[in-house]
Amino acid sequence: MRNKIVAGNWKMNTTVKEGVKLAKEVEALVAKVNNAAKVIVCTPFTHLTEVAKVINKVALGAENCASETSGAYTGEVSASMVVSTGAKYVILGHSERRAYYNETDEILNKKVKLALANNLLPIFCIGETLDQREAEKHFEVVKTQLEKGVFDLSAADFSKLVIAYEPVWAIGTGRTANGQQIEEIHTFLRDVIAEKYGKTVAEECSILYGGSCNAANAKEIFSTPNVDGGLIGGASLKADSFLAIVEAV
Ligand code: PGA
Repeated sequence: MRNKIVAGNWKMNTTVKEGVKLAKEVEALVAKVNNAAKVIVCTPFTHLTEVAKVINKVALGAENCASETSGAYTGEVSASMVVSTGAKYVILGHSERRAYYNETDEILNKKVKLALANNLLPIFCIGETLDQREAEKHFEVVKTQLEKGVFDLSAADFSKLVIAYEPVWAIGTGRTANGQQIEEIHTFLRDVIAEKYGKTVAEECSILYGGSCNAANAKEIFSTPNVDGGLIGGASLKADSFLAIVEAV
């Protein structure tokens, strides 16, 4: 049985103090509900050490890590540094990193390998832009992102990844992909993974949906075949709306 996962992506929001407060609230609510889903909060680097101290049931993730091991890379934070805070996960390949910081498939491939080498589990994001969707290139785009980003991993390493499908046009826009769009692409992704790594690996891979998922639409999205949870941006910044999404999975 593959894991159901709800991961919050705080992005560049909250001060350390606000983040600790939010994490405490999420932890308290998650501890109260009897839910088998794995709940993760992915926070800015600056918050990781402090947030790690106040969560227990909730797992910790970073939003990025460096593509190099260590050394003269001013401003970068390595996978081993992230792990040393207590974080277990790292979001890699988010469309905001791809678009605003020019993170190519090649750079992301290096990051994924460094994360894994440091026992940090990547939540690897893929997804098409609106132009690509309108040109009906979305299947091709997500397949290429997998092929170039992670398909040179061994099956054992690939099995450690969480995949998140996030159509760029749905992120932070209030516009979600509809049930049919989500189902067809998640099914396609599982097929592509099965072709590369075999049916067992594909069946065990958690594939999350992300993009304007909220308390009101989560239940419907999570009931879609081949959707194993969500990567949540805006709605993860309030403990109660995040919990409602956790309960929906
Ligand atoms: P959103 O962001 O839920 O605010 O659309 C999702 C994400 O970017 O991971």
